Amino acid sequence: MTGKFITLEGPEGSGKTTVSKELVKILNESGYKVLLTREPGGVDIAEQIRNVILDKKNTKMDARTEALLYAAARRQHLVEKVLPALKEGYIVLCDRFVDSSLAYQGVARNLGIDEVYNMNLFATENILPNRTVFFDIKPEAGLQRVYANKEREVNRLDLENIDFHERVYEGYLTICNRFPERIVKVDASQDIEDVLFQVLEKIREIL
Ligand code: TYD
Repeated sequence: MTGKFITLEGPEGSGKTTVSKELVKILNESGYKVLLTREPGGVDIAEQIRNVILDKKNTKMDARTEALLYAAARRQHLVEKVLPALKEGYIVLCDRFVDSSLAYQGVARNLGIDEVYNMNLFATENILPNRTVFFDIKPEAGLQRVYANKEREVNRLDLENIDFHERVYEGYLTICNRFPERIVKVDASQDIEDVLFQVLEKIREIL
């Protein structure tokens, strides 16, 4: 890997997507080549898997099936898009990665952090980001933003109850403590401009 692999993590409505678009502009202006991508999806096969995972009709989906599908989409996206870009020296900014699976499937769906982590290390062949930025915002505040944003489509996971989203949030806090050398936190409850500024600082530290 010659580029830098940076992932953005956080609960629904934490502002990752908005901030990531601004980050690209600023980093480009500073002369960096940047690839912005997202999970699940990012390449054709992974987008097809995404449609199965997030389809509101798929209420019967088992938690392990869900975890395996996310990992399968991740694998395809990694080999087809992320690794080639890193090889060419790009900064790859990825909206969600393994830590989403640890928080959502490992903790909120109760599959266990270690189990989901090991399964994901198989999928990624032990590749982890150089830096992960966690957008720290309480789930109620994040969900309020989601519902205020009419353009964003509500998916199967958004429809989970507030307890689920509380568990996701607790999961993220546990993961932050577990991987302190890789994951840094920003206060995502602030205005988007302030969040952007904090994230930029955390990214510049490793460039
Ligand atoms: P998306 O519409 O991309 O939401 P967001 O803008 O919040 O990223 O939907 C992705 C959903 O999938 C989101 O609810 C988080 C969930 N998810 C997992 O549960 N596990 C995973 O490994 C990933 C990547 C996402």
